[in-house]
Amino acid sequence: MTVPTYTERRPAPPAGRPGLAAQLLRRKPIGQMVNEAETGHGGTRLVRSFGVFQLTMISVGATLGTGILVILGESVPLAGPAIWISFAIAGLAALLSAVSYAEMAGLVPVAGSSYSYSYATLGEGMAWICGWCLVLEYAVSVAAVSVGAGQYVNESLAVFGQFLPDAISQPPGDGGVVNIPAMVIVLLAMVLLVRGAKESAWINTVIVVVKVGILIFFCAVAFTAFSAGNFEPLLPMGAAGVSAAASSVFFSYIGFDAASTAGEEARNPKRDLPRAIMLSMLIVTTIYVLVAVAAVGARPWGWFDGNEAALVKILEETTGQPWIALVFAVGAVLAIASIVLTVLYGQTRILLSMARDGLIPKIFGRVSARTGTPVAGTLIVGILVAVTAGLVPLGALADATSIGTLFAFALVNVAVIYLRRTRPELKRTFRVPLFPLTPILGALMCAYLMANLGADTWVTFGIWMLVGLAAYFGYGRRNSRVAALSHEEYCELSRPESSTLSTPEQTKAELS
Ligand code: ALA
Repeated sequence: MTVPTYTERRPAPPAGRPGLAAQLLRRKPIGQMVNEAETGHGGTRLVRSFGVFQLTMISVGATLGTGILVILGESVPLAGPAIWISFAIAGLAALLSAVSYAEMAGLVPVAGSSYSYSYATLGEGMAWICGWCLVLEYAVSVAAVSVGAGQYVNESLAVFGQFLPDAISQPPGDGGVVNIPAMVIVLLAMVLLVRGAKESAWINTVIVVVKVGILIFFCAVAFTAFSAGNFEPLLPMGAAGVSAAASSVFFSYIGFDAASTAGEEARNPKRDLPRAIMLSMLIVTTIYVLVAVAAVGARPWGWFDGNEAALVKILEETTGQPWIALVFAVGAVLAIASIVLTVLYGQTRILLSMARDGLIPKIFGRVSARTGTPVAGTLIVGILVAVTAGLVPLGALADATSIGTLFAFALVNVAVIYLRRTRPELKRTFRVPLFPLTPILGALMCAYLMANLGADTWVTFGIWMLVGLAAYFGYGRRNSRVAALSHEEYCELSRPESSTLSTPEQTKAELS
């Protein structure tokens, strides 16, 4: 049986600029996406330099962060000693979406991540909504995470009896005026990203090795104080407690998708992106479960209640060494630095894709021939994030990042289902196992976790989306390049054979 082609099954829209509904539903042909990424349409060509190791480190850098350092104080009281099971469940929930990311990243390895996957499957309207949600997941969350830098810098200085006054180390709303450490970290990351993606990836790798090392050190120390009795009874709060804690620790898995924004900088994206996403999930889940077992093994579960600094206290009490606090605080600053570096990187690449599509101004897509990076876009994003981190009390907006992230995850699960049904002939380097059960469960899990978030967070998210819609109607809708394609161009680009990504060698040959 021959498989009907995309154009046969899906008649292209009529000639002329589409009406509103047609434009919102117009999908970007995968062929066009792949060709533009290959040729760097409109001066947006990035340099392919990452192998699977750097890609994995990008995802681990963006994921393994501040969450694990502070989250036990609120999650152990919910689950009891079974907290490690909660980490495993949350890891499994994240994995349901991670496999969908892996399939899509292997199929459409472009810089836009879920924004591009949505554009290829659900149309321009959903793509815009997804891109706008990704600004929450990336730019806003970078600003929110870097706010913690002031506190950890002060904890480091405290070992030497020094401290920065609150006025310059705390955000407004928390007793400060400007959070200088947060601004410095964001601006340093910005400078690195402007200089080169390769250099940034190596610095991120070094930081990731240090932060993984610190968590392994914690496990090694905590296991010396291990008492099996701390695990009895295993489920004092029942299965419901374990599941509530799983929702609360899900935050610590956010970020595994960062490698998918490196689709145009990977040397062999179709092979390496899925591997990097899966490897990073494996590394992060293993570390989290180990840290949870080590921590609860070292202290009875009741001890954790409200104890934000649980890990560092276990280290101090077990070793009797006050300098441990310094190691830990420096580790926390480094953890923040690598999240800022990798997530800021991802944001600039997503914006580059959106600029290439005409949905935001071109300046975000212009890549410098000298550095191979989107210099202007990185400077604009870096400065905006630095100012937000230093001066704006983010509060409710930061809480809304989880909804935005989960929404983007859900869309990727839907995209996998959509493309398996409509483009079964496409070559996939990674296939979601147990299809369609896995992406259906993945999307439902995202919806469930979103529903668990508070009403205030939903209101903030609603306001955020209204601002996004105003931006779309004010700019994106009028400047969309896909909407401007003629009927013939659209059909040509939608031909299935335009969808196979050529190798870097082929591209070089084509361009020369
Ligand atoms: N996963 C990131 C963290 O735990 C957001 O900090």
